Amino acid sequence: MTSPLSSAGIFITLEGGEGAGKSTQIQRLAAALRAASHDVVVTREPGGSSGAEAIRGLILSGGHGFSPVTEALLFSAARLDHLEKTIRPALARGAIVLCDRFADSTRAYQGASGGADPAILDALEKIVVGSTQPDLTLIFDLPAAEGLHRAALRRGAEHADRFESEALGFHEKLRKGFLAIAAQDTQRCVIVDATGSIDQIAETIHAIVFEKIKARAR
Ligand code: TYD
Repeated sequence: MTSPLSSAGIFITLEGGEGAGKSTQIQRLAAALRAASHDVVVTREPGGSSGAEAIRGLILSGGHGFSPVTEALLFSAARLDHLEKTIRPALARGAIVLCDRFADSTRAYQGASGGADPAILDALEKIVVGSTQPDLTLIFDLPAAEGLHRAALRRGAEHADRFESEALGFHEKLRKGFLAIAAQDTQRCVIVDATGSIDQIAETIHAIVFEKIKARAR
């Protein structure tokens, strides 16, 4: 069985824990795709539309003590706005959409680590994402302690956000959560070893994505 394709365009998501290097790789991938004359939209969650960016600030400030289910509802509201305003229009015109985090982050952060009931997360995903499932998801994997260390270096003197401040145990569950998602959906997900060099990881990812594009054109 092949994964359902989202529409005319190609929807690619990048997922993983903190400090995995997704932001660097998404820019490199976008540049490589644009150099090959593809129409590329780079976006992120939470965010990617003005309403979703406003919700992002609300959640990541960490000042409200939201429960994991409340967070899942807020991330889902942000996601729906992002889908309606940015992702679906881009896919409809045939663009390649590269999205830094998407629904798997809710399953891993609010579900596997936060403990939100998977049935609630399934129901939300059905309502919000519906048939706009990613065609390909790259899951960046590295030991939680290494990711947190990298995130702290990147942040410098800035405060850790709501999730970066969580204990190591939270991030270890997160890693297992992402690996479990990859194991459940092998058609859509590819695990990327994020411990390699930036160039090595870029080369691996570019090969996977260009192969996906070729397969779509067949
Ligand atoms: P961001 O600074 O974009 O993190 P990163 O660079 O690690 O991608 O912050 C987004 C944070 O929100 C990140 O810690 C993951 C978390 N998150 C969730 O908990 N659930 C979600 O559904 C999404 C999309 C993100």
